[in-house]
Amino acid sequence: MKFFVDTADVNEIRELNDLGLIDGVTTNPSLIMKSGRDIREVTKEICDIVEGPVSAEVAATEYEAMMKEAAVLAKIADNICIKLPLTLDGLKACRALTSDGHQTNVTLCFSANQALLAAKAGATFISPFIGRLDDMAIDGMELIREIRQIYDNYGFETEILAASIRTVNHVREAALIGADVATIPASTIKALVKHPLTDKGLEAFLADWKKTGQSIA
Ligand code: E4P
Repeated sequence: MKFFVDTADVNEIRELNDLGLIDGVTTNPSLIMKSGRDIREVTKEICDIVEGPVSAEVAATEYEAMMKEAAVLAKIADNICIKLPLTLDGLKACRALTSDGHQTNVTLCFSANQALLAAKAGATFISPFIGRLDDMAIDGMELIREIRQIYDNYGFETEILAASIRTVNHVREAALIGADVATIPASTIKALVKHPLTDKGLEAFLADWKKTGQSIA
């Protein structure tokens, strides 16, 4: 399973990239707003840090305008993945951009039928939003399960990018179901390492090691 970090904060991205833990980045208009930076400038900086796909989202809602914005975003770097909303115009833009050789990420997916349409439009990634469904008392993980089955039934190559991940259990469940990628907030990626028995075990090993009086280096 690939990990993307869901942020436009370059410090978080640099730290996780240096740890070797991330395969890409996703941003969205809300995350760009939170960064307080110009989209072109911050996206370029992110693309210089991370080798894998960096999703940058169009803000237009009509096909022609989406294509113009996509052309601007695509020029930022070779690893830009154009993020498009799951609308008819977004799907049309997805087909055109994919045919032109661009990577695409169709976002704001909340149903299996929407995911089916994105795959038919040739999307590189489909982004089903788990947390936002859970917020409405609908099981977001069930959507990942349905999309996995549909894509496997027909051999679609579109990768399932589990999004709107809020907890470490979301990551585990998405991995068990077979999501290809998870886009995760930086704090949740770091929380994956935590286990009290690891801390306890390390403490005991270090105490015993001290008693040996040895050094390795
Ligand atoms: C995905 O690409 C989105 O940027 C993100 O996962 C949305 O998460 P949220 O529902 O926590 O805003």
